[in-house]
Amino acid sequence: MSIEFGVDYYPEHWDRSRWETDARLMQALGVDVVRMGEFSWFKFEPERGAFDFSWLDEAIGLLARHGIKTIVGTPTAAPPKWLIDQDKSILPVDAEGITRGFGGRHHDCQSNAKYRGHCKRIVSVMAEHFRDNRAVIGWQVDNELGNSHDNLCTCDSCRSSFHAWLEKRYGTIGELNEVWGTNFWSQNYTAFSQIPVPRITPNSHNPSLLLDWKRFCSDLIVDFARAQIDILREKCPDQFITHNLMGFSEKVNYYDLGKGLDFVSHDQYPMGYWMSAAEKTPAALASTLDLIRAMKRKNFWIMEQQAGPAGWETLGQTPRPGQLGLWTAQSVAHGADTVVFFRWRTCTFGTEEFWHGILPHDGTPGRRYEELLKVIERLRPVMQDIKGICAKNDIAIVYDYDQYWALRIQPQHPKLSYVSSIQQYYEAFYRRNIPTDFLNPNDEFSGYKAIVAPLQFVLGPGMELKLRTYVSEGGVLVLTMRSGVKTETNKCRTDGSLPCGLVDMLGIEVLDYDCLRDADIPIVWGKGSDPALRVSGCWWSDIVTPHEGTQVLATYGEEFYRGTPAVTAHRYGKGMAYYVATQPSPALMRLIADHVTASAGLKRLVDTDESVEAVRRVGESAEYLIVMNHDGAAHDIHVPASWNHLLDETGSKIAPYGFMVFRKEKTPV
Ligand code: GAL
Ligand code: ZN
Repeated sequence: MSIEFGVDYYPEHWDRSRWETDARLMQALGVDVVRMGEFSWFKFEPERGAFDFSWLDEAIGLLARHGIKTIVGTPTAAPPKWLIDQDKSILPVDAEGITRGFGGRHHDCQSNAKYRGHCKRIVSVMAEHFRDNRAVIGWQVDNELGNSHDNLCTCDSCRSSFHAWLEKRYGTIGELNEVWGTNFWSQNYTAFSQIPVPRITPNSHNPSLLLDWKRFCSDLIVDFARAQIDILREKCPDQFITHNLMGFSEKVNYYDLGKGLDFVSHDQYPMGYWMSAAEKTPAALASTLDLIRAMKRKNFWIMEQQAGPAGWETLGQTPRPGQLGLWTAQSVAHGADTVVFFRWRTCTFGTEEFWHGILPHDGTPGRRYEELLKVIERLRPVMQDIKGICAKNDIAIVYDYDQYWALRIQPQHPKLSYVSSIQQYYEAFYRRNIPTDFLNPNDEFSGYKAIVAPLQFVLGPGMELKLRTYVSEGGVLVLTMRSGVKTETNKCRTDGSLPCGLVDMLGIEVLDYDCLRDADIPIVWGKGSDPALRVSGCWWSDIVTPHEGTQVLATYGEEFYRGTPAVTAHRYGKGMAYYVATQPSPALMRLIADHVTASAGLKRLVDTDESVEAVRRVGESAEYLIVMNHDGAAHDIHVPASWNHLLDETGSKIAPYGFMVFRKEKTPV
């Protein structure tokens, strides 16, 4: 049986008499799988050691009779009250030293040995219980690890785990003092046990401590997941293991977390109530999906795809007619093998009673159900043909947690953001329908014609060599401002001019710089004869001295460094290294993207209006072009005649928030 669509289902929220109706409606919709149980610890274990899985067994069985499989979630994101009451040390402690109380979820410390023990207990019992149930195809460990744990946890247990982590990394306290630079402000330590966790202080902590703390917190969560994964692997060899990630969230290094999983899943909320306008653009949404595909360099699942207006205390906008389908198509286009909608029916109680599911509060199928019925029918055959076939593109953007963390610690310009910088580069290529991968800095670089590595702020010898080798062997590389500034322990590098270690490859030196606090900086592309070539940069100007032979593509138009290079290109070995000395405006970004596209020989897929996205996917039997209109107005599209309409649409007009799928025979390789 192939699995393309699912829903997140909470049978425990509804009377038993309703389950049959739910199962029937799901089956009619085309649901193949449900995820259940990920917050139901109390229902599984109402008191210590008194396990009861009968209700879930019954739900699984009933759904199975309707042809629906189950993914079971381990419930460790919501430990019950009795468990916390037995040991209050399980509650997490925030940066102010205040213990966070019971009442939401994730009210746990992930290093706490007692809590780990409880998790081990419940996961082992569940694994034994569900391992032989043929309707259970897989597991989700915990739920959105890292969520609600932004500045958690600074308890005693986490402090001693941090000490052990540091000791393992640095060996001696002398070494730590050296690489952190603790001579500053008398912060020298004589034992690992003295080192603080980043509780609030009269002012900032040492940036080296903070970067290691971020690394430690990530490792801790990966280890927390690992403990569950190990149990499930051993006891349930026939069931898969996944976890639902949160896109560009920064608490956990998802490359590391992904290693233990069969595949990663992701929760895609295009209109989350908490999101800024910039996070909701079609390009930002696409970039999130492409990022998830990079985690294991393979296709993924959407474990929660938005299915209605989303809100807690406040709400986001209601998805417009067509948008649920459009977002589903976008997830599929960018690599989702299966899409699970959150949630089946809108709950009538609790924090998420305004987080709308496919069905409204009263359970009667309405607009959302009818819309998804058609979407599922249209997308299923395409999904079956492209399942498991991962796109591999010619250009990639490096996504590196060290940079993310280090620049969160010291953004330098108050608005500088690693993720938005990356997304702005991504968008320039996206707008031209040039498909882009994200790249784990530890993965192989050589398969790409072009690589963009924004803000390589923390740069160690390994990455330096990797970038150099990539270019010398023929790659086209784009590096930017604030590269080669820091050592891997987050101290300033001193081994030459900026960007340290890369000067000869880039053919430039940065001897001075300017934080653009009050105004953007005008930039002139080429000779700037056309007004369209007068663009700008923001956040930062590196003041660049080019070496002989370095090509200057753009210059600053104002300030004491007027006329000096803002964008350069330098031939190195068989390749080309670009340097972008500021954060480009969208117009400058496009000029850079076009230059790089031409120099790396990248091809645009098709020309579309800006709000229309086109993605090509290669299937088992054919190639597909998925065209998506992110605008509330219809658009004309010009798809070459070699592509045929796959679905029942005709013509070359794409409806508001619509998607169209085209097919053609596979081009022989
Ligand atoms: C996700 C989470 C779900 C649910 C949903 C709506 O982040 O995984 O459990 O809370 O958001 O808030
Ligand atoms: Zn803790």
